[in-house]
Amino acid sequence: MFDDSFLHILDQAEDQAKNLVWYSPSQIERGDHLNDDRTKGMRPWSISRKTGELLHNLVITEKPKIIVELGTSIGYSTLWLAHAVQQHNGHIHTLERIPEKTAIAKEHIQNTSLQDSVSFYNGEIIDILREQKFQPIDMLFMDADKSNYVMYLEFLRPYLSPYAIIIIDNVLSHPEKTEHAVNWCKEHIAQESNIFPTESGIFFCKT
Ligand SMILES: C[S@@+](CC[C@H](N)C(=O)[O-])C[C@H]1O[C@@H](n2cnc3c(N)ncnc32)[C@H](O)[C@@H]1O
Repeated sequence: MFDDSFLHILDQAEDQAKNLVWYSPSQIERGDHLNDDRTKGMRPWSISRKTGELLHNLVITEKPKIIVELGTSIGYSTLWLAHAVQQHNGHIHTLERIPEKTAIAKEHIQNTSLQDSVSFYNGEIIDILREQKFQPIDMLFMDADKSNYVMYLEFLRPYLSPYAIIIIDNVLSHPEKTEHAVNWCKEHIAQESNIFPTESGIFFCKT
């Protein structure tokens, strides 16, 4: 089902996800990077391969034309989504605040057949959403700053297509941080919803 070049990029991104770490300016000032205290650094926090396969299947089945991904990191989930969305000529817009992460994500995609299916945006999610006004959004994948999910949902509600799909990661691993967004979806837009019991837990709902 997946050609060798795609599997090779996935392997590369999985290795990076295990090994890369960034330090914020205040962590550097404290010297965390000199002690190589990786627990304190920012990591890629990529989804698992199983979750990637699940997202891929969802995109193949539901055929969203426009996907918006909040939280690119180094682009592992983006690879899965792009590979699937390309098959029906759709497009994914992916947003990330850390420039080094966006740069790595772009490297994975460039020079592959996926590059025309992905647009990368670097900056604060809310600023990019206000500026770009993506619409109509057929699929929204939320994998970023959980405390702001409800704000993003309220902002994006007018731009969702009539049959939009909302996906929220980490609803089982971080229920206390994601329940507001899950409840908001159930109350305001969900015709049907489900939780896939992956390690992190994926909430899925359709408007
Ligand atoms: C869990 S990681 C995303 C992982 C990625 N979806 C994957 O599975 O490969 C969350 C990312 O969201 C980014 N992020 C968090 N809050 C953000 C914000 N307000 N604006 C832009 N990016 C943000 C973080 O820098 C981090 O790289």
